Amino acid sequence: MKKETITLTYTEYTTVSELADNERFLIEQAQQSAKDAYAPYSKFHVGAAVLLDNGEIITGNNQENAAYPSGLCAERVAAFYAMATHPQRAITAIAITAFSDESVLKIPPFPCGACRQVLAEYEYRHKKPIRFILHAQSGKTIIMDGIDNLLPFPFVG
Ligand code: THU
Repeated sequence: MKKETITLTYTEYTTVSELADNERFLIEQAQQSAKDAYAPYSKFHVGAAVLLDNGEIITGNNQENAAYPSGLCAERVAAFYAMATHPQRAITAIAITAFSDESVLKIPPFPCGACRQVLAEYEYRHKKPIRFILHAQSGKTIIMDGIDNLLPFPFVG
């Protein structure tokens, strides 16, 4: 029997002014995309901007459906489209942001478990850590490098 401990590492910023220009730009792309989310049921609009290793940015937003489980999260819309159209490119970063019609969001939108699993697989596929830039409407931003800091026990088949 042995007991193990896992440490997760992330950096927290109070405002976007503390971020690098390219990180701020990626957040802005995600914010832009969140405006186009189709979220008539949750009223929670999520935007994701995926940065590829050739500098290209692919954005996506949540797409809901009256048959609730048929909808899809912003992260997977963006990542699936990015990988469907640029299969040889690695994802180097993803910015995720959200706004609600009902309140100002103070907590950054941490990706759901299913999106973490999908992003884990793409990180392993291209063997390059993904930088996660999780941005709350209030400005608070959390950054972590590599999916291990978000999903320590992925399903690997
Ligand atoms: N959503 C995302 O787009 N990303 C996540 O990681 C979690 C949740 C969406 C799904 C749904 O349209 C809305 O947010 C409320 O759950």
